[in-house]
Amino acid sequence: MAPGLPHRALPLLLLLLPPPPARPAGRPYAPTWESLDARPLPRWFDEAKLGVFLHWGVFSVPAFGSEWFWWYWQGEKKPEFVQFMKQYYPPDFKYEDFGPQFTARFFNASQWADLIQASGAKYMVLTSKHHEGFTLWGSKYSWNWNAVDEGPARDIVKELAVAIRSRTDLRFGLYYSLFEWFNPLFLADKSSSFHTRQFPVSKTLPELYELVNTYQPEVLWADGDGGAPDSYWNSTGFLAWLYNESPVRDTVVTNDRWGDGTICKHGGYYTCSDRYNPEHILQHKWENCMTIDKVSWGYRRNAGILDYITIEELVKLLVETVSCGGNLLMNIGPTEDGTISPIFEERLRQMGAWLNVNGEAIYGTHPWKSSNDTVTPDVKLLGHGQSLNWTFWEQSGFVVNLPQLSIGQLPCKWGWALALSHVV
Ligand SMILES: *[C@@H]1O[C@H](CO)[C@@H](O)[C@H](O)[C@H]1NC(C)=O
Ligand SMILES: *[C@@H]1O[C@H](CO)[C@@H](O)[C@H](O)[C@H]1NC(C)=O
Ligand SMILES: *[C@@H]1O[C@H](CO)[C@@H](O)[C@H](O)[C@H]1NC(C)=O
Ligand SMILES: *[C@@H]1O[C@H](CO)[C@@H](O)[C@H](O)[C@H]1NC(C)=O
Repeated sequence: MAPGLPHRALPLLLLLLPPPPARPAGRPYAPTWESLDARPLPRWFDEAKLGVFLHWGVFSVPAFGSEWFWWYWQGEKKPEFVQFMKQYYPPDFKYEDFGPQFTARFFNASQWADLIQASGAKYMVLTSKHHEGFTLWGSKYSWNWNAVDEGPARDIVKELAVAIRSRTDLRFGLYYSLFEWFNPLFLADKSSSFHTRQFPVSKTLPELYELVNTYQPEVLWADGDGGAPDSYWNSTGFLAWLYNESPVRDTVVTNDRWGDGTICKHGGYYTCSDRYNPEHILQHKWENCMTIDKVSWGYRRNAGILDYITIEELVKLLVETVSCGGNLLMNIGPTEDGTISPIFEERLRQMGAWLNVNGEAIYGTHPWKSSNDTVTPDVKLLGHGQSLNWTFWEQSGFVVNLPQLSIGQLPCKWGWALALSHVV
């Protein structure tokens, strides 16, 4: 077969509509969903389109199965996990014993920042605390179960925040799990059907305020409501503070995971479910959070090459997501010693190479709302430079004649974007 562009539907992402005018700020926001939901999402988020998610914590030490390791082993007692522990660890070994083995020995925040920037992402989100409860900063409320008191003896959140802000133009974001699987205070509240609120009052809320005041994340990615309603977490009270008074009140964005039933309904942008991909345009801003390792968010030592999404699939996902008004948050799992495995590095660099050519069709775009244009557009293939010939078909739109290019002339691999200008 002669080399050239394959004849298949090409994703078209077009810049047609001017950004909507900023609505007047509703500050001060009241601690009600009605008021909070009316806050306009800071514009940078929609323009950013691509973020990198990092799942890192004590679960990166066993690095087996998934970041839900503790729960699968001692909550659900899945045979695979029970067997793994029986076979490789002494009988009295506790999950907490993985803490000191989380070394972050080779963790270099500058290298991470440079790599994340090279992916073309415009924001990143780090798991500051997952459901295991271990905090990657020296939380005053997580005694002996944080990265400063145990394991690395380093403030991971701070190191990454500094590197991202000093070396890149990315926005720094933090994931935070509201609940913790085995925290006795949470379990006590749960056994009272959440009529008592010891856990959010003494742990979750103080940590959220500490995180925001200390590290000033511009994405606050809440997760893990533990089946408790948002009134238990006082999510509306916290968000009113975040939007009215916090140091990031003007630029912070949040998601929709703020209590049982809030997902896809309240908060900032919608995530709706993991790997959410509605395949049609949503009027509310949304994000598709997905992971390059198909079965886990945390690093798995036993993952094979077929477990990782290919760059062709990633580019397709990005294009589908952006064309329907979403952002893509693609996840990688660093190892316990702070390295990013070459397979993740390759995917990030490939995505960056693709965006170098096609970024014009991604960043700052708006979904195309109408496809029955009658006025002659100019068409060009991004990265190719020449105008392309096209034919208008009365009923079904128009057909673009793609150039026959040799491999050496291809502007990029994995997916091609056409730009239409002067479209009315
Ligand atoms: C961390 O990485 C940066 C960028 O590659 C490099 O300049 C620096 O020397 C590294 N620091 C250490 C301690 O290895
Ligand atoms: C909820 O948070 C707000 C704002 O910080 C605070 O004023 C209020 O007392 C809190 N309510 C409860 C029930 O914790
Ligand atoms: C284009 O589509 C819009 C909305 O469906 C319709 O109102 C309009 O008449 C169409 N224009 C042409 C030229 O088909
Ligand atoms: C453009 O495409 C049409 C339809 O295939 C063809 O008739 C015409 O000759 C082409 N023009 C150029 C300049 O290639």
